[in-house]
Amino acid sequence: MLYSSILRPLLFRMPPEAAHELALRLCETGMRPASVRRVLARRFETEAFEGLRRFGLTFKNPVGLAAGFDKNGVAAQGLSALGFGFIEAGTVTNLPQQGNARPRLFRLPLDKALINRMGFNNDGAQRVAENLRRHRPACVLGVNIGKSRAVRVEEATEDYLASFESVYEAADYVAVNVSSPNTPGLRELQGADALHALLQALQERNRELAVKRETKRPLPLLVKIAPDLSEHQLEAIVDVALRARLDGIIATNTTTSRARLKTSASAVEVCGDGGLSGAPLRSRSTEIIAGLYRLTRGRLPIIGVGGIFTAADAWEKICAGACLVQIYTGFIYEGFGVVRDINRGIRERLNSAGFKTLDEAVGSGAERSEAA
Ligand SMILES: Cc1cc2nc3c(=O)[nH]c(=O)nc-3n(C[C@H](O)[C@H](O)[C@H](O)COP(=O)(O)O)c2cc1C
Repeated sequence: MLYSSILRPLLFRMPPEAAHELALRLCETGMRPASVRRVLARRFETEAFEGLRRFGLTFKNPVGLAAGFDKNGVAAQGLSALGFGFIEAGTVTNLPQQGNARPRLFRLPLDKALINRMGFNNDGAQRVAENLRRHRPACVLGVNIGKSRAVRVEEATEDYLASFESVYEAADYVAVNVSSPNTPGLRELQGADALHALLQALQERNRELAVKRETKRPLPLLVKIAPDLSEHQLEAIVDVALRARLDGIIATNTTTSRARLKTSASAVEVCGDGGLSGAPLRSRSTEIIAGLYRLTRGRLPIIGVGGIFTAADAWEKICAGACLVQIYTGFIYEGFGVVRDINRGIRERLNSAGFKTLDEAVGSGAERSEAA
């Protein structure tokens, strides 16, 4: 209530990126004192999901913060007090970079959507890893890595490997981003051969680092894919993911499509290029999740992301095959309480469906959402 009646109207009066920076600063500095985080954690206390194990990690609940909100890992600790089960920092690149020229973030309130072409603005993998080591969140921490803009796609592997090594100690899992529409050529890495080469190299380095560090097993490695993929491309990605023994797939990133928007075409045009997120992405990303679940026969964990605002939206993705979910745009529109509300709603749905654990719900409606 406080968010929708006071905070959101104030933030939405500001330019989108300035509002984002303010909110991030609030989470970083305002929530740094442990006493503040304790108060918040009580206020936003979420349902506990006992025994929620995914790719060797224990999650306190299935709702995470998607990559892009805290690119530099400065606010992860404060954000975790809002009840997230996990936080994905980044995208980080090996080389620090400024990203695209501003303005590069736009709101489409009629559609409950955002368009962004941030272009991986971040302080570089080493610096971000230091931030995260200093301010570890009280939940599972993923780090999302991408290609530095200055590096040619053909030389991407070395660049990803350097980022991977930098964040290895800080991260509980690593997500390989090959799906942002805002770095020229990046999505080409979703092609079967390029993706296979990249993921094989990362897994090899992953095993080497695990041996070097002795106590550590290889880090869970996931790939994040776009919603704008054909059935054929999806099949190829699943094949590569299984061959590279990935730990999961994150579906999906933002879309380049502008179909079925309520916002006028001219207003959308003004925003220019970029990835669209939020409500208009919801059903497409659920279709991709259902497709992945069917193709993998549930063998590969799927993190479902795209257009989740409510527990019903999260439930739709869980039934389609997601074993964890993430939000970004929903967090901007619905505010701090959204994590607690979604978790509460998931618990209610589990109870009324007669499921004892979340695992029983995962994929329980995959056929249905595929047909929808
Ligand atoms: C402003 C903004 C920046 C983003 N930056 C990243 C990023 O750096 N890396 C990434 O993998 N995804 C990024 N995303 C995509 C989100 O993580 C998410 O996949 C997508 O927005 C769909 O979820 P949503 O509809 O809940 O926002 C970004 C999204 C937004 C809106």
